[in-house]
Amino acid sequence: MDTPTSQHNERPVEHVAVAIDLTKSYGRGDGTVHALRGVSATFSRGQFTAIMGPSGSGKSTFLHCLAGLDTVTSGSVVIGDVDLTKLSRTELTKLRRDRLGFVFQSFNLLPMLTAEENIRLTDRLGGRRAEAGWFDTIVNALGLRARLRHRPAELSGGQQQRVAVARALLTRPEVLFADEPTGNLDSSTGTEVLGFLRTAVDTHRQTVIMVTHDPVAAAYADRVLFLADGRIVDELAAPTNDLVHARMRQMEG
Ligand SMILES: Nc1ncnc2c1ncn2[C@@H]1O[C@H](COP(=O)(O)OP(=O)(O)OP(=O)(O)O)[C@@H](O)[C@H]1O
Ligand SMILES: [Mg+2]
Repeated sequence: MDTPTSQHNERPVEHVAVAIDLTKSYGRGDGTVHALRGVSATFSRGQFTAIMGPSGSGKSTFLHCLAGLDTVTSGSVVIGDVDLTKLSRTELTKLRRDRLGFVFQSFNLLPMLTAEENIRLTDRLGGRRAEAGWFDTIVNALGLRARLRHRPAELSGGQQQRVAVARALLTRPEVLFADEPTGNLDSSTGTEVLGFLRTAVDTHRQTVIMVTHDPVAAAYADRVLFLADGRIVDELAAPTNDLVHARMRQMEG
């Protein structure tokens, strides 16, 4: 007898990132901080996930472990079909460079390079060149065309963050990780950056995992994972500003 699922013709869900029972502790003895206490989650291709939770709940730690920027104490992180916890430092560096993208709260641009040079930076480091068409698509979509020759000091915060997003997307990462990408932006420039992340998800099936404390930012995502004290305590699909607020109030108890 056929199972009902075998007759479906939908695109299969691809898990591009999987966390399995992750723990992360800092320090030892009495002073040990258990930043993650057993976190499991799957992230599908073309899915935009927001991670929320109180300060100190482990959001950045979780993101850094997922992105191979920090080691885990136990558990696994799988990107595509590679278990990051089994890689050497060199292999991990290469995987991060070739397959992952990062955007941080502080834009991390190099002050002596122009916007274009900053955008192309990781592309060059990888020894590969993105197709010209893709550079143009990103630069136009982010409204950076007229700013390419300027240095970061000559750009607004929103423009600097858009340069950082362009740089992260240029190599077509399998997963884009963002830690409070709009934390240093006013609401209108924050909206521009979030709108572009949403477009990248909708038009290019970009996978995005974003830490934020802002319900408005979280509402751009497809789902929200809530962390508290190093554990995922709740998940919300199709978040709206109001739903996220309500869930946060519930969590505060
Ligand atoms: N390098 C470190 N050494 C020791 N403790 C750390 C380190 N990094 C984080 N921690 C601790 O781990 C816990 C989780 O920190 P994390 O930065 O992941 O929180 P967060 O949810 O991102 O908070 P915030 O919203 O304030 O950015 C906190 O108690 C923090 O003090
Ligand atoms: Mg943090």
